[in-house]
Amino acid sequence: MPTRPDDEKLRGLIADYFGAGSRLRILRSAPAFGAPVFAVDFDRGVRHYRTLGSFGPSFGAVNPDELQVTEQSSMDLLYPAHLVFHYERLMSLAFALCERPMTALLLGVGGAAMWRFLRAYVPECAPTLVDADDSVMAIARRWFYLGQPVVIDTAQRFLAGNTSRFDVVLVDLYDSRGPASFDEAFWARCVDALAPGGCLATNWADFASNRAVRPMAEAQNAVARARGFDTYFVTRRGFRDNLIQYLSTGDERQPEAITSVLERFARERRLPDRGRGILEHCIVSTGFPLEI
Ligand SMILES: C[S@@+](CC[C@H](N)C(=O)[O-])C[C@H]1O[C@@H](n2cnc3c(N)ncnc32)[C@H](O)[C@@H]1O
Repeated sequence: MPTRPDDEKLRGLIADYFGAGSRLRILRSAPAFGAPVFAVDFDRGVRHYRTLGSFGPSFGAVNPDELQVTEQSSMDLLYPAHLVFHYERLMSLAFALCERPMTALLLGVGGAAMWRFLRAYVPECAPTLVDADDSVMAIARRWFYLGQPVVIDTAQRFLAGNTSRFDVVLVDLYDSRGPASFDEAFWARCVDALAPGGCLATNWADFASNRAVRPMAEAQNAVARARGFDTYFVTRRGFRDNLIQYLSTGDERQPEAITSVLERFARERRLPDRGRGILEHCIVSTGFPLEI
């Protein structure tokens, strides 16, 4: 592994964040991502995890230029198909919100958590994977069991040339600068990429502190409305977790349907812990959620 002058500092940040007992597997530069990325193993009680991490801006911090460890994706080493992050479990509901999820477009592959989940729980679904960073994908293949080809391109460029339709489109696009920037043209292409009855789900991290998020989420809503659809949002109370925006075009597109949709999905797919906790302590809102 090539050593950069600041490697020691980065290793120190990783050890501080994940604990002295954590084991760094790889630390390397990722040019498209814009910052070094790493894979680290650590234990939390009886659970053993491997996380794909990086360094990024600390939205809402006193000094926003200060380097901060950011977690991009995580894997339970004993149960690699389980989704570790709550936001990923929320995003997985997109597969329940369309009638027959036979194809999916995953924009932003990271540590391939959603890909492993799909293989285990929705095996009939054929995913197309797109990620801008080859180095991150090399880590996903070596350390996170990713075993499928990935289109190495930006989601924006991929969508501009796309003519296929997918039952599910997931947008989870983050790099060292935070979320990719999305405009109405991007969302229009996402909706164009949806098969009839399909569902688009978008992950918004730091939505309460990053002011760039709300206009981008509202741009998606504007595109949805222009097509006769709507979007809605789900996040945990407290506004510290991520926010998921759903644009569902199927019969169960109303926000009220999500609870029964989850129950059915959990039962049919035998989700871990019967899907308990996925919608617990969550608010479901038709407008962008704001702290009062
Ligand atoms: C949070 S991770 C995705 C985690 C993933 N959903 C999973 O299941 O593990 C974000 C990924 O988005 C990718 N990315 C960021 N901006 C991008 C863009 N504009 N186009 C394509 N990929 C992008 C990064 O390289 C990174 O791998």
